[in-house]
Amino acid sequence: MKNGIPFWFDGVEAPAYPPLDEDLDVDVAIVGGGQVGLHCAYKLKDSGLRVVVLEARRIGRQATGRSTAKVTVQHGRRYSTLISKYGEGDARIYAEANKEAMEEIARLAAAMEEQAGLDVRAAFIYAADENQARMLEEEAQAARSLGLPARMVFDAGLPFATTALLEFSGQYQFDPYRYLVGLAPLINAPIYEQSRVTEIEGESPRRLKVNGHTVAANHVIVATQMPIVNEGRYFAKAFPFAHPVVAAPLPADKPLEGMFINAGSPSHSLRTAERDGQTYLIAAGGEYKQGEEEDQQRMMDDLRTFLEKEFGIRTLSHAWTNEDFRPMDGVAFVGPASSDGTLQVATGFDAWGITQGVVAADILAGHVIGRSHPASRLFDAARMRPVKSAREFTKGNIEAATHLVRDKMLKRMAVPLDDIAPGSAGIVDHNGEQLAVIRHMDGSLTAFTASCTHMGCIIGWNPIDRTWDCPCHGSRFDEHGDVIAGPAVSPLKFRLLEGIEDEGA
Ligand SMILES: Cc1cc2nc3c(=O)[nH]c(=O)nc-3n(C[C@H](O)[C@H](O)[C@H](O)COP(=O)(O)OP(=O)(O)OC[C@H]3O[C@@H](n4cnc5c(N)ncnc54)[C@H](O)[C@@H]3O)c2cc1C
Ligand code: FES
Repeated sequence: MKNGIPFWFDGVEAPAYPPLDEDLDVDVAIVGGGQVGLHCAYKLKDSGLRVVVLEARRIGRQATGRSTAKVTVQHGRRYSTLISKYGEGDARIYAEANKEAMEEIARLAAAMEEQAGLDVRAAFIYAADENQARMLEEEAQAARSLGLPARMVFDAGLPFATTALLEFSGQYQFDPYRYLVGLAPLINAPIYEQSRVTEIEGESPRRLKVNGHTVAANHVIVATQMPIVNEGRYFAKAFPFAHPVVAAPLPADKPLEGMFINAGSPSHSLRTAERDGQTYLIAAGGEYKQGEEEDQQRMMDDLRTFLEKEFGIRTLSHAWTNEDFRPMDGVAFVGPASSDGTLQVATGFDAWGITQGVVAADILAGHVIGRSHPASRLFDAARMRPVKSAREFTKGNIEAATHLVRDKMLKRMAVPLDDIAPGSAGIVDHNGEQLAVIRHMDGSLTAFTASCTHMGCIIGWNPIDRTWDCPCHGSRFDEHGDVIAGPAVSPLKFRLLEGIEDEGA
């Protein structure tokens, strides 16, 4: 099994873009080359503005390229919730904007090489009992009232029993990595990879620090999934969660026609993908908290058990993890984060950012060129609306705050250094300090200070991707301590381990 390698990247050679090695002066700096960032650039391609995309690592390889890539307006039970919290008008705006985005993605993908794996598929949510079926029936009514193609069905060809299913017809699935790699040449703007923005300072223009150079920009669009800026404190308004995702050859006697997700928990999200004449099942398992190794293991075990029981799958070809952010009041934050409107953000897609990312791009690019968008008010990134979901907000933030307090004040449960087997890692106490230690296969050790460089929470090991993940606000670091995902922008602090074993750490 290929651990830590998403199915979508395997065997795909994408052209590399150069790192930034000079100062630049532009109209619009887009930070991040994922679904939001590249679509923003695409929407500005005929604006006549000088646009640049600055990507910390490689385009398309973070949340978007690690997703299950269902291109659908079915976002869980979103419509009944939106209607009850925000009313039918806003729910309709959400539905229409996402439908338009879905069709735009389909049009773009259809013109790409091998159509970027685009397929028309129905999207289903399946119920395992009468209670879940009732909730899906409510959702079907809500979605239909907004003009969406929703209906209840009792069989969709799943190889296991369900009570009922909510079907949205005419949705899509695609290959998210090949899609973003295919979109990049269409944006009519330079892309710089290996170009992490570490600071955004000043105003009119804002100055971005990248690879020791400065990019001066009149507008900055922070499309880094979780904004790397302090403005708006989005890390305290949208809380992080993660899922394991796997791929495996689909047994020929268990064909699967649609895209599926269950109404209960832990979640099981399913779709197929073709590669070299073979059909694969792509499946995401239940939600866990980043950096909590046991929590991750439980969800991985649950997913394996489910796949073996329902599909007879015992051998996986790929396993990886992905993360996203849940907004405090159920709606993503998109738009200006600064009072002068020249610093914009997009975050909190709650694991449904493929179409929402394009809606976000439309809003953000529209703001730059002075075009209003019907969904800007709903997604308003500066909103302070009183929300019925204050309880959820409190719960999410308390959870993050608890991690902050627990991990900062009490620290993480440490293990004796000797308990870390070759190939694995753990948190070790050393002279009153917590260290994140990896024991390599040859027995050698690499250690970092275990404090996340964002706000100091103690990181935890992710054995599937071999990364250090932060439970507080979702930053991720690779085995060398380099940042994979923000809000952190600085690498983990390397620690020399001289004498540590003698000291019985
Ligand atoms: C398990 C799972 C499955 C999912 N499946 C689906 C699905 O089927 N359908 C769906 O609609 N949604 C799905 N999602 C959600 C979706 O993947 C995300 O909401 C969406 O991809 C977010 O896009 P983005 O552009 O904001 O982030 P990203 O794609 O992560 O792009 C952000 C980019 O910014 C770059 N960056 C970060 N920091 C910096 C910096 N300092 N300087 C420069 N660049 C930087 C990153 O390297 C990255 O390339 C799923 C999520 C999860 C967790
Ligand atoms: S991501 Fe904020 S402290 Fe780690």
